[in-house]
Amino acid sequence: MANTLQSCSSSVSNLVSKSRFLGGDLGSESRCFGSISFPSKLPTLPNKSCKSTRMAAVVKAVSGFDQPEVDLSLSPRVNSVKPSKTVAITDQATALVQAGIPVIRLAAGEPDFDTPVAIAEAGINAIREGYTRYTPNAGTLEVREAICRKLKEENGISYTPYQILVSNGAKQSIIQAVLAVCSPGDEVIIPAPFWVSYPEMARLADATPVILPTLISENFLLDPKLLESKLTERSRLLILCSPSNPTGSVYPKNLLEQIAQIVARHPRLLVLSDEIYEHIIYAPATHTSFASLPGMWERTLTVNGFSKAFAMTGWRLGYLAGPKHFVSACGKIQSQSTSGACSISQKAAVAALGLGYAGGEPVAAMVKAFRERRDFLVKSFSELDGVKISEPKGAFYLFIDFSSYYGAEAEGFGIIENSESLCRYLLDQSQVALVPGDAFGDDTCIRISYAASLTTLQAAVERIKKALSPLRRAVHV
Ligand SMILES: Cc1ncc(COP(=O)(O)O)c(C=O)c1O
Repeated sequence: MANTLQSCSSSVSNLVSKSRFLGGDLGSESRCFGSISFPSKLPTLPNKSCKSTRMAAVVKAVSGFDQPEVDLSLSPRVNSVKPSKTVAITDQATALVQAGIPVIRLAAGEPDFDTPVAIAEAGINAIREGYTRYTPNAGTLEVREAICRKLKEENGISYTPYQILVSNGAKQSIIQAVLAVCSPGDEVIIPAPFWVSYPEMARLADATPVILPTLISENFLLDPKLLESKLTERSRLLILCSPSNPTGSVYPKNLLEQIAQIVARHPRLLVLSDEIYEHIIYAPATHTSFASLPGMWERTLTVNGFSKAFAMTGWRLGYLAGPKHFVSACGKIQSQSTSGACSISQKAAVAALGLGYAGGEPVAAMVKAFRERRDFLVKSFSELDGVKISEPKGAFYLFIDFSSYYGAEAEGFGIIENSESLCRYLLDQSQVALVPGDAFGDDTCIRISYAASLTTLQAAVERIKKALSPLRRAVHV
């Protein structure tokens, strides 16, 4: 058995150049990855050469003591789930920077701004004033009342505090909603490109993700006819995300109305409306909450949070609003897993909601900066031959179609086959970390996060263009 383990480990390094790109975090020494030196302490990788995972998973502890064998096998549920590529690439790029490699990180879905001072002060005061204890499972009444006011004034949807569940980030709100409403065999309808976690969350609930592709030429918006043709009696949950991660598309109200009319014809179908990028939107685009449409309140689970608009990713605070029956079910899951969210973050969230309409001046200043960056990137990449762009109307991502570069051969690297190898090439050649579109269900594209200063983006564009130019020649000759 020990031999099996040894042969598994020795083949890990052979997998480095491909698997490591999307693998776990890195240690501190150096190892070669293309022309970049990568740290050498390897993460534990799934080993393709281990024929029987069950057999290979049983390992005798190597020590001077006689210890029982440990069964390292994992549940089929966790084995069915893919790790998040965005988290993996972000961690990897961070580790490279720590190892002294000047990587420009444009992979993270995280604003580069600090949390606005008034919010941070509220958090500090919360600690000073002793708000450091457990809160009610659903969140403090104070924050839930503030959320209800916000939803009424900004979104035109009425909830009582008992229809609100505050969680440790919108991510928790979404997984709990999926777990609460989906039964094994149910279908979760997800337009692609999608946020990486939706299909995996469906799988965690033993439900089946049904992916509906959209077109860049249609600004990545769902075609209502396609939706209608895919709905069955097993369809339980439609997940909408507007403004979208990864495309930045914003669903216009009339399209949402068409979708609502289709949804209304399917009694089993609920809608999870992920509105976490709501405030990061570029006029004249406007945000419509799906629950505000006629007949949709009863079947919509609205998710929002503080991470993006308020630059509060580390505070971990999000929420779900919906009919009490569903919200209570989500609360039950939360009560047996994490309980109430951080007391300090809830005080900070009250301050965030007190900043004014749509986050007031501090959020408007961030949105202005995001808009300038979007304009810069759209202009810069539009100058490149063979790329297709749909101008984002919100969020802070650009999802660019680079597929005309696929098939090109890069000297010393090999063939650029797909979005993953193009990202690997760009990390290798230009030291810019981006996320391959296949992580979001669209292999033609690459996601660029513009949550970085204009100067950083200028440097990144220069490096990317330089790395792409020999490829362009290769494609066009
Ligand atoms: C579309 C979308 N929904 C939800 C989340 C989760 O946000 P958080 O858990 O930080 O509130 C993210 C974070 O990247 C996101 O992009």
